[in-house]
Amino acid sequence: MSSKQFDVIVIGGGPGGYIAAIRAAQLGFNTACIDEWKNDKGGPAPGGTCTNVGCIPSKALLQSSEHFEQAAHHFGDHGISLSNLSMDVPKMIGRKNTVVKQNNDGILYLFKKNKVSFFHGRGSFVAAEGGVYGIKVAGANEEVITGKHVILATGSNPRTLPQAAFDEKLILSNTGALDVNEVPKKLGVIGAGVIGLEMGSVWRRLGADVTVLEGLPTFLGAVDEQIAKEAHKVFTKQGLKINLGVKIGDVTTSDAGVKVAYTDAKGAEQVLECDKLIVSIGRVPNTIGLNPEAVGLKLDERGAIVVDGECKTNLPNVWAVGDVVRGPMLAHKAEEEGVAVAERIAGQHGHVNFDTIPWVIYTSPEIAWVGKTEQQLKAEGRAYKAGTFPFLANGRARALGDTTGMVKFLADAKTDEILGVHIVGPMASELIAEAVVAMEFKASAEDIARICHAHPSLSEATKEAALAVDKRTLNF
Ligand code: FAD
Ligand code: NAI
Repeated sequence: MSSKQFDVIVIGGGPGGYIAAIRAAQLGFNTACIDEWKNDKGGPAPGGTCTNVGCIPSKALLQSSEHFEQAAHHFGDHGISLSNLSMDVPKMIGRKNTVVKQNNDGILYLFKKNKVSFFHGRGSFVAAEGGVYGIKVAGANEEVITGKHVILATGSNPRTLPQAAFDEKLILSNTGALDVNEVPKKLGVIGAGVIGLEMGSVWRRLGADVTVLEGLPTFLGAVDEQIAKEAHKVFTKQGLKINLGVKIGDVTTSDAGVKVAYTDAKGAEQVLECDKLIVSIGRVPNTIGLNPEAVGLKLDERGAIVVDGECKTNLPNVWAVGDVVRGPMLAHKAEEEGVAVAERIAGQHGHVNFDTIPWVIYTSPEIAWVGKTEQQLKAEGRAYKAGTFPFLANGRARALGDTTGMVKFLADAKTDEILGVHIVGPMASELIAEAVVAMEFKASAEDIARICHAHPSLSEATKEAALAVDKRTLNF
């Protein structure tokens, strides 16, 4: 079919795809990766949602806005005074764009280093002939390349609220929310999920009056209830207005901004008026342009590519990973699946442990967890012991000036095996790694309690929470 023949073709250059391509190349396969993302000059911008409009830019803005909040409200505690503090939002956005570009360039460098052939354009199935797949690449030039194995990593797109189509000026998806050049006076957010809370925090810290409208009656239902309650209390104190159990009605835009009609939890009709509205109500798998019909690739009713536990699709030698398949929509889950698939193609035993995938919400305080929540264990009828330790009693947290939150351990009542670890507090995103390692090694709470942790460090709160499982904390 084509002069360019590959062992492995990866469609999609996000964390699932680019990592799969690098691992496949490391394993000795002649590998191509096709990605269509364009930078503002029309050039390639590999890295997918994560790099361009997701994980990386959101964390860049979270960092900038956190610095501003510290300078505005907390530096005084350290004896540092500032006058005429101001925020140059376009500069902050410019820095974020530089961070994104560094990551795009880093991936292009990695492709070169690992001898992955990169194609900039849209990849779509043409046909399958004699055990080989023909993939059309539609970019600056159009060509068909062939591969024995195809890994699909085409990611996801934001879910649209039918009455509030994204225009990225007034009604923003994550893309627009990361590119606002002036702090909105009033910001509305629909959906108190991960994006709503992270982006809501960015703009609140910079001075916006932020109101979040959430359809469900519970706040962060997937998070351990005790941790979610603590986070809700802190976010509300910080000034985030969170309305739960609402039903969104008409959404209208005008020169004056956006009006969102909604019914509140008590059944009263309300209207939220704001300058901009972020709609963050989840994401949907993306197979636009892949032409799955050409080869009979099976999708489910949500539009996700159907895969088995090993990421195999219904077609021989066609695999799919990341946001476009079942499971949590997380960059590190996509990466792990990408590596596992490349290793399976090489006849190895690639493995992803879905029970130890960490979650992090990068608000302040951060929320991070791995394993089961207390409500899940109750529902399963599993006997467990719980231990918590507050950062208030941790010396390093006091020195940092951030004593919000706690570490919580859940362990099996009989065996003491760690079943879940939940953290709300400073640097939770880093602290959770210890819990993930412990759970991968099927450690008990006592194992962590007996390990020497550096003093003074936030990680001592982890050790103390493990001690708390056995009701023998030393510092509380
Ligand atoms: P994607 O990253 O979406 O990449 C898919 C790529 O495929 C894209 O480049 C797309 O252009 C390309 N593509 C699609 N179709 C074709 C085609 N036919 N031909 C060629 N190319 C194609 N996750 C975390 O773990 N941590 C976080 O902190 C985090 N923060 C986030 C913040 C925001 C605002 C958002 C929106 C998401 C965040 N996520 C985070 C989720 C994370 O971005 C996704 O889980 C991750 O990007 C999924 O990786 P992927 O490779 O499956 O898909
Ligand atoms: P989400 O699933 O986290 O939250 C969506 C929220 O919107 C839910 O609370 C849901 O109940 C609510 N909702 C849905 N429909 C609604 C409606 N009609 N009216 C009012 N509320 C409604 O989805 P989000 O925030 O859009 O993020 C998408 C995904 O991206 C996340 O699930 C996560 O996988 C990923 N992500 C991960 C991050 C991280 O790891 N730190 C950061 C940001 C995104």
